[in-house]
Amino acid sequence: MRTLGTELAGEVEAVGAKVTRFRAGDEVFGFTGFRLGANAEYVCLSQRASLALKPVNLGFEEAAAAVDGASTALYFLRKAGIRHGHRVLVYGASGSIGTYAVQLAKHFGAHVTAVCGPRNADLVVELGADEVIDYTKEDYSRNGAAYDIVFDTLGKTSFSRARTALARQGRYVPTTGLHNTLLSIGTSVSRGRRVVTGMSVDKNDALVFLKGLIEAEQLRIVIDRRYCFDELAEAHRYVETGHKRGNVVVTVGT
Ligand SMILES: NC(=O)c1ccc[n+]([C@@H]2O[C@H](COP(=O)([O-])OP(=O)(O)OC[C@H]3O[C@@H](n4cnc5c(N)ncnc54)[C@H](OP(=O)(O)O)[C@@H]3O)[C@@H](O)[C@H]2O)c1
Repeated sequence: MRTLGTELAGEVEAVGAKVTRFRAGDEVFGFTGFRLGANAEYVCLSQRASLALKPVNLGFEEAAAAVDGASTALYFLRKAGIRHGHRVLVYGASGSIGTYAVQLAKHFGAHVTAVCGPRNADLVVELGADEVIDYTKEDYSRNGAAYDIVFDTLGKTSFSRARTALARQGRYVPTTGLHNTLLSIGTSVSRGRRVVTGMSVDKNDALVFLKGLIEAEQLRIVIDRRYCFDELAEAHRYVETGHKRGNVVVTVGT
């Protein structure tokens, strides 16, 4: 049986003889990727894995919650070619990727419109959003705005809808959906609106970049609920409601 979990933070217990990047006692945060296994007291990773020294100003719970959502948001914003002055719409701004996408897009100098439900409007404004659209009341694709990037953090909107809201050379950036991968191939030679897809897997450089931002207090980690290891199934059930705010963390082994 596989042990679930991809994000982790903890202390290096021991290193192999040829390991040069880490020493026993280092506090690290990272990502196990497709091999999973992070929901455990111990995990064995290569020094080439997506692992970095933990931000010094975070505890382990916050650090674990700063891995996948933040690095995925960074990966897609960079892949979309985000620039200072861009108008960026973050669809699903109150989730894990979304809360980081709002903050990172602001960091890169964009004007950010956050799409979220009414319960989370205050949160996304606190995170820096310039404008907020309530997805239960308003269709972002019909307000006449022209965005350079529509970042669909949840795969809950679509290119056909985003297209009407994109500037002439705008990018629709979904995190999920095979049909979107096909659309990205189909639009890759277009001089106009394109679909940009991908998979954030190698997170090493991203983690070092994020550590710097966090230590400079330029990135906030939103934690919705904390569970102990015995409550793992309950934690999954809550995440699967699709309505968490930011991140959920599970503390293992204490
Ligand atoms: N390609 C990659 O490399 C990669 C990497 C990681 C993850 N992903 C993908 O990213 C997705 C998960 O993202 P996540 O963890 O950031 O999500 P999440 O945290 O689970 O998202 C939860 C949030 O979504 C909001 N939401 C739900 N329905 C909405 C709607 N119709 N419109 C707008 N907001 C809505 C909820 O707010 P309300 O309560 O107000 O509804 C809630 O705050 C998954 O599909 C995953 O496969 C892709």
